[in-house]
Amino acid sequence: MELQSILFGLTAFIGFITLSKTIVTFLRWVWIAFLRPSKNLTDYGTWALVTGSTDGIGKAIAFELASKGLNLVLVGRDLLKLEHTSNALCEAYGSTVQIKYIVIDFVKAKGVEIVKKIEEEISGLDVGLLINNAGMANSYAEYFHLIDTQVVESIVRVNIEAATWVTKAVLPVMLKKKKGAIVNIGSASGFIPLPLSTVYSATKSYIEMFSRSISLEYKHTGIHVQCQAPFIVATKMTSIRRSSFFIPSAEMYSKASLRQIGYENICTPYWTHYIFWCILDALPEALRDRFVLRHYLTLREKGLLKMSMKNKKNP
Ligand SMILES: NC(=O)c1ccc[n+]([C@@H]2O[C@H](COP(=O)([O-])OP(=O)(O)OC[C@H]3O[C@@H](n4cnc5c(N)ncnc54)[C@H](OP(=O)(O)O)[C@@H]3O)[C@@H](O)[C@H]2O)c1
Ligand SMILES: *[C@@H]1O[C@H](CO)[C@@H](O)[C@H](O)[C@H]1NC(C)=O
Repeated sequence: MELQSILFGLTAFIGFITLSKTIVTFLRWVWIAFLRPSKNLTDYGTWALVTGSTDGIGKAIAFELASKGLNLVLVGRDLLKLEHTSNALCEAYGSTVQIKYIVIDFVKAKGVEIVKKIEEEISGLDVGLLINNAGMANSYAEYFHLIDTQVVESIVRVNIEAATWVTKAVLPVMLKKKKGAIVNIGSASGFIPLPLSTVYSATKSYIEMFSRSISLEYKHTGIHVQCQAPFIVATKMTSIRRSSFFIPSAEMYSKASLRQIGYENICTPYWTHYIFWCILDALPEALRDRFVLRHYLTLREKGLLKMSMKNKKNP
């Protein structure tokens, strides 16, 4: 009888602790995702530099930053798209912010050229925020040995090298004033392996470790470094046009993205992405990997079909 009541008490106690922990974790997440006030981004400096700001997430972030009163340096590879984005931003926010753009193709430019060009263009500007967003992936899921070598090289250049060189160019400005925030757009695929997009996935893992290491290196200099790891966003990269529950639009993502700047060093800003993350995390790894592989093999079939139809249309 006594043993029984002790056991009962112990079970109830453990249950209580577990439940409280879950509730605290959940409330903390609600606070972080929806309620915690954003940092005042103009506090870091009056200018923000965004790479890959002519489309998708980067473009949406540029608009969001302009709406908060930040002047912008847009970096992109396509002069026409840069002019177009710059004009649209001026039309919307031109009376309150200044816009500047730099043409760099991260596939073609060498490291030293990128660093020099950016240093020159931002000299004298109070740049407090850097968003390393430019990125590319193979256009459809494909086996590593079948992907064009040039495509692999481009992915490495844009995803790994661009962020590295641009950070190298912008950091000294932040160091001088002992203030700044760097946001590197990684991906959930830097944490969860993505078969048939292996190089993409691996480059995003580089972004994660680059961010983690450098954030420690400059922690005591007033510079905050963050790696954001989103799941799928409806952009040209994913060829998904419409948003859905687990797939936000670039605009929806960018709003969530800005809310997290200056806080955790690694984060998944969009709330349903985070839920998806918890679901995948709860699965046994082997099951999760099988699910991902199956999904990407289907995507490969679809991609190949699309390519062959395209090739038939314009041979
Ligand atoms: N969409 C997703 O599901 C998803 C998920 C996780 C992480 N991400 C990451 O989020 C970031 C933005 O992706 P997104 O979905 O917004 O893609 P996106 O719509 O294709 O936009 C990519 C941006 O990068 C620019 N860019 C590409 N190659 C470049 C080069 N060689 N030189 C200079 N700029 C270049 C593009 O320029 P153009 O306008 O000239 O093409 C564009 O502005 C990437 O780092 C991506 O890996 C995306
Ligand atoms: C944000 O910071 C800037 C610069 O420090 C300051 O001028 C501005 O008033 C602040 N804005 C808010 C809403 O606190």
